[in-house]
Amino acid sequence: MTDKRGLREVSIRHCGSRTGDWRRTACRGAYISHTLGTTVNCLFVGAGAIADEYVRGLSAGSLSLAGVCDLDKKRATALADRYDCPGFTDLEAALTSVDADLVVNLTSHAAHAAVTRTALTADRHVYSQKPIALETQAANELLETAREKGLALACAPATPRAPAQQRAGRLLADGRLGPIQLGYAHAHVGRVTDWHDRPESFLETGPLYDGGVYPLALLTAWFGPVKRVRVADTLDIWPDREDQSPTAPGHVEAMLEFTAGPIVRLTASLYTPHRAREFYGLELHGDDGSLYLCDTGAMDDAADAVSFGRVGREYTIVPPQTSTDGREYLTSVEQFAARIESGEAPRDSGRQGVHIVAICNAIEKAAEYGGPVNVKPYGLSAGQVITPAEPAAMESTTTTATAATTTNSPTISTPANRDGGVTLPPVGFGCSRYRDGEYHDRVESITTALDAGYRLLDSAELYGNEHRIGELLATPGSPDRESVFIIGKPWRTNHRQENLVTACTGSLKEIGIDAFDCYMLHWPDAWAHRGRLDRLAEKSVTRQEELTFPETDDGTIETAEIPLTTAWENMHHVVDRGLAHSIGACNISLAQLETLLETGDVDPALVQVERHPYQPRNQLVAACDDQNIRVIAHSPLSAPGLLEESVLREIGHERDLSPAEVVISWNATHGVVPIPSSTTESHILGNLRGAATRLSPDECARIETLKNPDFER
Ligand SMILES: NC(=O)c1ccc[n+]([C@@H]2O[C@H](COP(=O)([O-])OP(=O)(O)OC[C@H]3O[C@@H](n4cnc5c(N)ncnc54)[C@H](OP(=O)(O)O)[C@@H]3O)[C@@H](O)[C@H]2O)c1
Repeated sequence: MTDKRGLREVSIRHCGSRTGDWRRTACRGAYISHTLGTTVNCLFVGAGAIADEYVRGLSAGSLSLAGVCDLDKKRATALADRYDCPGFTDLEAALTSVDADLVVNLTSHAAHAAVTRTALTADRHVYSQKPIALETQAANELLETAREKGLALACAPATPRAPAQQRAGRLLADGRLGPIQLGYAHAHVGRVTDWHDRPESFLETGPLYDGGVYPLALLTAWFGPVKRVRVADTLDIWPDREDQSPTAPGHVEAMLEFTAGPIVRLTASLYTPHRAREFYGLELHGDDGSLYLCDTGAMDDAADAVSFGRVGREYTIVPPQTSTDGREYLTSVEQFAARIESGEAPRDSGRQGVHIVAICNAIEKAAEYGGPVNVKPYGLSAGQVITPAEPAAMESTTTTATAATTTNSPTISTPANRDGGVTLPPVGFGCSRYRDGEYHDRVESITTALDAGYRLLDSAELYGNEHRIGELLATPGSPDRESVFIIGKPWRTNHRQENLVTACTGSLKEIGIDAFDCYMLHWPDAWAHRGRLDRLAEKSVTRQEELTFPETDDGTIETAEIPLTTAWENMHHVVDRGLAHSIGACNISLAQLETLLETGDVDPALVQVERHPYQPRNQLVAACDDQNIRVIAHSPLSAPGLLEESVLREIGHERDLSPAEVVISWNATHGVVPIPSSTTESHILGNLRGAATRLSPDECARIETLKNPDFER
């Protein structure tokens, strides 16, 4: 294997010399001294199918194609002509002639190392297609050369940063799986003779160094280095009828042991068709749950790309909560160039690329001589994890109809940041038991919502199910406390200071948390206190109503003389005692908001009101925006007749959303966080789809026509 590969690299250099010589340029020393302008010139080496992927978006971005080099003159010229730059068949000539600090190496697998070496020697930063090399030694030498020369070296794939992979990474970061012990990864490259116009490189290199790199890139990004290959095997299986056949093993199986713990069985195959049921799937199993990602190599997202199954439950799809735009190949090169331009010489993905080659080499060795084989300590060191998930997508400021949010993975970073506004996911989940005058058990639906990725729970003393929510959050497979934003509310019978604090501590105890992310007055006006409301759901309905709707002898509600200003000052004690990170108020008018802002020294972080297209509360929303207060829309879907409105149907039809999902997206578009409640799984998932969509100003204007100043429930 090793010798053959060495020969291949040499023969490629010879191929080059036949068409014009891959000569070495003299070191250009000062040329690379981070003098890149705002548009960075780059030289593409390799003008095949993958180059077509990379050039997409080139005209709009920060990179400029200054030259193209390919051993095939026709291909080089065709691509160069499209971008009005010179084409070359000789790499050294290209490096000498083209004023480009960055080489993007898009050659075939076996040529990567030689091209990168030549470019580094000529003092160019290099972004290489995967694999970075076919031999650990060669890969590591490239890294060393880059380090010695202060050059940047990056290696594809960028797929760990693609949206579905980020969403899956967030599940891990939220602790949903518990300790992860086992995984299965597939890389079914398939019959390259069937789907690739130039399959030779794949047949020579085998599936491991091509498709296998996708799961390996993701797994090493999540778990850091592989410690050893426990066992591996290769098969030379291929249909006899084919004219061309693999010269490297066409099917590879290996058990990989990560330093961080998991053992993953990897299958990489040219024999298994790429249309097999398993394509590039990855399934991880932890003590508390399992995760399925349908394609580790995907750049585009799909609503059902990720699912989670807590132990004992069916898998639930985890839809995106933000725009599902995929990732462009060029984005990573642009980001790499931007880092170079800012004076860095990044080599982190290059190091990861070296480690992946070391894993592949160790797999081959284990297959040849029997395992286990320790993975050479090149590239990543123990405990080095690239990133569990890109932080993003929680929105701390209001988005307008014109501002599209394109971040990938909603992660709660800070529960409450009073200076910069609270950071929230685009949609939350209402936990009320009440619906149409009846009580509903909500545990099953809240479980589904958590499994589907909801990260904001709207709870309240009145709902009587805080302890059930607490039990659920303590169940294996639930997200870690810090990844869920929990709202609590004292009922209006508890506005007196001592009652308020008792209500809050009682609710916290029931849920099993130390502090609410936001504690919100449920209503601005106070009613008479008739007793504590703990475990309300366990009391008889008559008793529940006596406690929550206190009546005078004549059957009217008995109010309490506690002005809003006093109640708000009492809420300050909750913050002072560390029982809530922030406070807010529900069901308030604009005038009452002004009262709160003038009272005491803690401003509301959140305001929660009934909000839907009939009652958009534009003035209140605008006032909150001005004050950096986030608005939560309760009861967003249940206004009678709303979901039958033709304008919602029409927009939904155009966007493949249901009317309810359009209402959710209308809220999200205005930076308002809706908290629909649902007991139907398809609705729970659909509302996330709505939250991931941003409507156009025109669509928002059409919805604005539904506004009804006389709306009343
Ligand atoms: N602060 C307050 O004073 C206050 C007051 C009221 C409510 N809230 C909060 O707001 C939350 C939601 O309020 P809510 O339950 O009254 O009303 P809602 O969320 O507006 O409506 C719930 C209804 O909408 C349906 N639904 C949900 N998603 C749907 C979809 N995609 N397509 C079609 N129908 C859908 C549900 O049926 P399915 O179950 O079949 O999906 C249910 O019948 C409460 O749980 C509570 O947390 C707060």
